[in-house]
Amino acid sequence: MEVLKFLLLLLFAATVDWSEAGLSSLRQGSSLKVEEEIDFLVSLNRTFSSGFYKVGTNASCYSIWFTNSVNKTVVWMANRDKPVSGRGSKLTLHRNGNLVLTDGVGSIVWSTNTFSDASVEARLLETGNLVLINQAKEVLWQSFDSPTDTLLPSQKLVRNTTLVSMRSQGTYLSGFYNFKFSDSNVLYLVYNGPQFSSAYWPKTDGTVFDIGRTPYNSSRLAILDEAGQFISSDNLMFNASEYGIGPKRRLTMDYDGILRLYSLDESTGLWEMSWVPDGVDACLVHGLCGAYGICTYKPQPTCSCPYGFSLNDPSDRSKGCSASFDLSNDATKSDFLLLPNTDYYGYDLDTYALGISFSACRNECLTDSRCKGFGYALDGKGQCFPKSFLLNGFHMPNTLQIMHVKIPKGFLSKDEV
Ligand SMILES: *[C@@H]1O[C@H](CO)[C@@H](O)[C@H](O)[C@H]1NC(C)=O
Ligand SMILES: *[C@@H]1O[C@H](CO)[C@@H](O)[C@H](O)[C@H]1NC(C)=O
Ligand SMILES: *[C@@H]1O[C@H](CO)[C@@H](O)[C@H](O)[C@H]1NC(C)=O
Ligand SMILES: *[C@@H]1O[C@H](CO)[C@@H](O)[C@H](O)[C@H]1NC(C)=O
Ligand SMILES: *[C@@H]1O[C@H](CO)[C@@H](O)[C@H](O)[C@H]1NC(C)=O
Ligand SMILES: *[C@@H]1O[C@H](CO)[C@@H](O)[C@H](O)[C@H]1NC(C)=O
Repeated sequence: MEVLKFLLLLLFAATVDWSEAGLSSLRQGSSLKVEEEIDFLVSLNRTFSSGFYKVGTNASCYSIWFTNSVNKTVVWMANRDKPVSGRGSKLTLHRNGNLVLTDGVGSIVWSTNTFSDASVEARLLETGNLVLINQAKEVLWQSFDSPTDTLLPSQKLVRNTTLVSMRSQGTYLSGFYNFKFSDSNVLYLVYNGPQFSSAYWPKTDGTVFDIGRTPYNSSRLAILDEAGQFISSDNLMFNASEYGIGPKRRLTMDYDGILRLYSLDESTGLWEMSWVPDGVDACLVHGLCGAYGICTYKPQPTCSCPYGFSLNDPSDRSKGCSASFDLSNDATKSDFLLLPNTDYYGYDLDTYALGISFSACRNECLTDSRCKGFGYALDGKGQCFPKSFLLNGFHMPNTLQIMHVKIPKGFLSKDEV
């Protein structure tokens, strides 16, 4: 009796030896089930694992993650915007060669839409690429063709691929920040939100040639190599700070709008940042604070509203600020609220001008009903920036720029005590 108990214990211990757990492939007619903790694929050297990743108490996404990083950093998801329930969901490789994800009630949530007469299997490669491969070693489908927010070494970023950030930290839903090739062949970062869209890197003050890029190569191909060098057809090139073969890396479009290259510290399982784009300060990321909102970096981006305005949704600052007043079209009934060291990026009206006086600039905005405010720098150049929307606001210490926000006349004195 005691011996049997001991043997059972041994057997139990063996089944939960995680360093050995995981399958090397998924064959036709088999499934990975959401309830089975041992139902996941591992790559040859166990760098990556692929299985159901819990995103909520009763919600999972079929994913690929780094096996040995703290909190199992996810690099790919099949169904990030449609999690499946924690019971009855499964990933099945059908006999016809289609890899299908079904939820608890059996409805199809995602599939590779592949078909094969010959025998196929699903494998997770040591690069982190999940592939459907036949006996002739031809790849029918690969996760590398449809990245989510992360590009891995040897994975290609091409014309039709976009890295899309998560919505917020720990929320795996698609967010609003994208990294992709523009229609003019240049890699860029863009906020692509529900109300507006705005590119913020590379900075658009000059031409792309000024920063060493070119729009003339239409092949639109970028790759991070095994040594940590990123090379793109638009001439964007950079190296990981600890350049060289060895560290595991990932290039991720982070939820805060910043693209970062990371390297894994194997001893701690934590990620070290090894590259960020030049000149992208957290407050220059667009869309952070919404209409009228102003971003201040201290040292996390924080949003505030101008005096007299309030947050539309305190739990989501990107929804911006609104005022209690309505603006009049009558120039004699409007005035301005002054915001020193502040600017709202973009949305300049066609009346943008150089070399004009402050009073002419002010009058221009007063009499144009499209104008919501204007920026004017007291630097002697007479730059006047009347704006049709006040978005992408940020605090700029050490500048002479003063933002003037249009308000009804008497609005300020009314509130004063
Ligand atoms: C797997 O690990 C072995 C031993 O450390 C190493 O020789 C081999 O190159 C690794 N394979 C891959 C694909 O990384
Ligand atoms: C891991 O997850 C826990 C719980 O969500 C969190 O508190 C912790 O900060 C995470 N650690 C890292 C390194 O992300
Ligand atoms: C999990 O979610 C599914 C689908 O939304 C639902 O049918 C099921 O009852 C839930 N189970 C639990 C334990 O909450
Ligand atoms: C991009 O195009 C390639 C080749 O046409 C295709 O295999 C791949 O699935 C496409 N990826 C996406 C995300 O549409
Ligand atoms: C365009 O980019 C591709 C991919 O990086 C490269 O192979 C090719 O040489 C480039 N063409 C020119 C004319 O620079
Ligand atoms: C990256 O490092 C390699 C090797 O030192 C070097 O040849 C290359 O020019 C570097 N690239 C950049 C963009 O600095």
